[in-house]
Amino acid sequence: MRVAFVGKGGSGKSSIAGTVARLLARAGERVLALDVDTLPGLSYSLGLGRVAEAGLPADLAERREKVGWVMRDPVSAEELVERHALRGPDGIRFLQLGKLPGHVKPGSSVAFRHVLDEFREPGWTLVGDFAAGTRQSSAGWSAFAQTIAVVVEPTRAALISARRLRSLAPETNMGLVVNKAAGRQALAPDRIAAELQLPLWAEVPYDEAVASADRKGVAPLDAAPSSAAVAAIVNLVARLREEASR
Ligand SMILES: Nc1ncnc2c1ncn2[C@@H]1O[C@H](COP(=O)(O)OP(=O)(O)OP(=O)(O)O)[C@@H](O)[C@H]1O
Ligand SMILES: [Mg+2]
Repeated sequence: MRVAFVGKGGSGKSSIAGTVARLLARAGERVLALDVDTLPGLSYSLGLGRVAEAGLPADLAERREKVGWVMRDPVSAEELVERHALRGPDGIRFLQLGKLPGHVKPGSSVAFRHVLDEFREPGWTLVGDFAAGTRQSSAGWSAFAQTIAVVVEPTRAALISARRLRSLAPETNMGLVVNKAAGRQALAPDRIAAELQLPLWAEVPYDEAVASADRKGVAPLDAAPSSAAVAAIVNLVARLREEASR
């Protein structure tokens, strides 16, 4: 399975992606979690906490006259993951693009993209957590994914960015995760799905336990394993499995 989580800022991409990755790893899958956001947050929801270095070394790639940026030596994505991906709870492996401003060297970025585009080791699941908005998807960073989960809050404003994301990958199997669904919500999840013409893959309730875990920098799965939000994400994992086997 190769799944990307995209959506507007603050919609819940990292909380959900981290929990999905952990649940898959717990179920026995080999999971590579990728934080593609240059304002990284996935390490917390995975339960790794603050990580100093989870990016790829900048000297893996170089800029050549007339060619542009290329990997310095031929090295497989599998090798890079083996060498550089951190190990996390439930046996998860983790890489992050790096932190802006100023800390994502072009060489690291080229090497990270190499992993996204080339890592196809059989038996592995890839879970990518993307930067807010549409920029990375329009630059092809989500092309690795067989399935894309668009995370939206149930508001009008959220629909605008979701619509744009949808138009960027018309060939990819895409579905909707309505997050922070609450009693007083502006829009009903099925109405959002109908408006966006996307299947509703999951409805995750607003859950104070998730927000509270985030404030402590702890994974939702560790802080609140029996919360309503985690239960909904368990259902999302089942749905993602179905989608991946289609
Ligand atoms: N279901 C939920 N219930 C309550 N709070 C939630 C829920 N999902 C996410 N949150 C909270 O919303 C905030 C944003 O969540 P998160 O960081 O996962 O979003 P994001 O889409 O990754 O944001 P960014 O675009 O900044 O990367 C966090 O404080 C998080 O704890
Ligand atoms: Mg995030």
